[in-house]
Amino acid sequence: MKIIGKGAESILYLKDGKLVKDRISKGYRHKEIDFMKRKYPTRREAKLLVDAAKFGINVPGLYKMDDKEMKVEMEFLKGNMLKDILDKSKQRIKLCKEVGRQVAVLHDAGIVHGDLTTSNMLLVKDKVYFIDFGLGFYSDKVEDKAVDLHLLRQALESKHFLHYEALFKAVLSGYKKSKNYSKVMTRFEKVEKRGRYKKKNDKSN
Ligand SMILES: Nc1ncnc2c1ncn2[C@@H]1O[C@H](COP(=O)(O)OP(=O)(O)OP(=O)(O)O)[C@@H](O)[C@H]1O
Ligand SMILES: [Mg+2]
Repeated sequence: MKIIGKGAESILYLKDGKLVKDRISKGYRHKEIDFMKRKYPTRREAKLLVDAAKFGINVPGLYKMDDKEMKVEMEFLKGNMLKDILDKSKQRIKLCKEVGRQVAVLHDAGIVHGDLTTSNMLLVKDKVYFIDFGLGFYSDKVEDKAVDLHLLRQALESKHFLHYEALFKAVLSGYKKSKNYSKVMTRFEKVEKRGRYKKKNDKSN
């Protein structure tokens, strides 16, 4: 068993060349709550992987979902996290535009990723893949899509601050493809203002 990663909620390992995402039990949580907190993301992740693929999003293929063992078995993608290569890549603008394009397709399909960070995107050869749909959900609300983009902007700002403005601009140029581009952008501006207001008034910061 080769451990690939360990997140707050899960352990990822390789088994027979497949990637297993195993949502681990937390002893300190109430038993039933713990069960729910593992069961729903497990189911959701599997369903969203299948649905996203139907719309042409690059995602790992799903092999198996087990909501008793809380495991999702998927294709292991051999590549790099976008987080690790974006800053040094000559292709960074092109890659971010492609991220924006795929997010537009996801959103137009009524899928919100919920955790759009460059750790949840892999570059395999020259293709960007999306992973980690455990916080994803179905929504047609402009607000949910705007918040998805807001989180992505924040992720770029914190992990890729050197080129962050150009990178996010490239994301939005790819996102233009969305049928709801204007509506989502109008809401996005509001979400951003809300964020800034909160930051300014949060004394704990
Ligand atoms: N299908 C895959 N192929 C290759 N590597 C993967 C794959 N899925 C995940 N990884 C690697 O494991 C890391 C963690 O995976 P993932 O983001 O799904 O889990 P997580 O962040 O712990 O999730 P959660 O927030 O649901 O606990 C990824 O950043 C990536 O490096
Ligand atoms: Mg992740």
